[in-house]
Amino acid sequence: MSDTLPMTEALHIAEHIARQAGALLRYYFERPRTFDHKQTLIDLVTEADRASEQLIVEALQKAFPEHHIVGEEGGGYGPPMEKTPYHWYVDPLDGTTNFAHRFPVFAVSLALSGPDMQPLLGVVYDPMRDELFKAQREGGATLNGRRLRVSRVDNLAEALVVTGFPYNRWTAEDNNVATFGHFARRVQGVRRVGAAALDLCWVAAGRFDVYWERGLQPWDGQAGMLCVLEAGGTVTDYDGRVSEAMWRGDAVVATNGLLHAQALEVIQHGDAAPRPLALSQPEGEGV
Ligand code: IPD
Ligand code: CA
Ligand code: CA
Repeated sequence: MSDTLPMTEALHIAEHIARQAGALLRYYFERPRTFDHKQTLIDLVTEADRASEQLIVEALQKAFPEHHIVGEEGGGYGPPMEKTPYHWYVDPLDGTTNFAHRFPVFAVSLALSGPDMQPLLGVVYDPMRDELFKAQREGGATLNGRRLRVSRVDNLAEALVVTGFPYNRWTAEDNNVATFGHFARRVQGVRRVGAAALDLCWVAAGRFDVYWERGLQPWDGQAGMLCVLEAGGTVTDYDGRVSEAMWRGDAVVATNGLLHAQALEVIQHGDAAPRPLALSQPEGEGV
């Protein structure tokens, strides 16, 4: 596949488009904003999501008229999926809730995947920090041109971990709240940043050691998952498999590799998973 499409060039174009969309988000970030609700009361879409998607889709269609594009806000564009082996997954604004509250943590995420859902390349741009993460399958991952490597932490008790919660969490039984608690009782720190694409890229950069989440969409996770893999990390579903469900985002565990088995144990066994020894707690600081 990569014989017919020059991947390095495609990556370069995707990077350029992501930066342009990021600049647009920065512009909207400073303006008064209005939002609509999607499926649930807490699932928002702003003017910026739509404007960013329009910019990205127009630019991708110009550069790759033969490719299919899946945009979070607008659905499918271009020739039907089955007519082309090249499928773009576009999240024009990952972290919309943050954006709507002026919490400056959000990103643009673009991935190009084959019909098997496996990403060939991915770009995530964080416009507030001007950080551009990108990866090419078997070509490594970089942050602003510097090679990315996952962390070397090998004990969950010393790990900083991150997760997210689905938009149906008010009512869904499987809303990750229990698993959050199981991790909180076993790790050094647990965070909920609010942008899955950044969660994954920050695992690739060694800022986080573990990420887990259920109920993502392909546009949330594809680019970031490739960054983790190309930075030497491990990505699987909750059963520990590299599966289509994982690539779709149904269930994702992304780690530095060294912590993968420990993270899966918490996800799969909950309270029955081993806890760090109380003995390792410094005297006088314990609960
Ligand atoms: C959401 C964010 C969030 C994750 C949700 C996603 P959006 O994307 O990535 O961190 O927990 O599952 O839907 O709606 O801000 O593009
Ligand atoms: Ca998203
Ligand atoms: Ca989005």
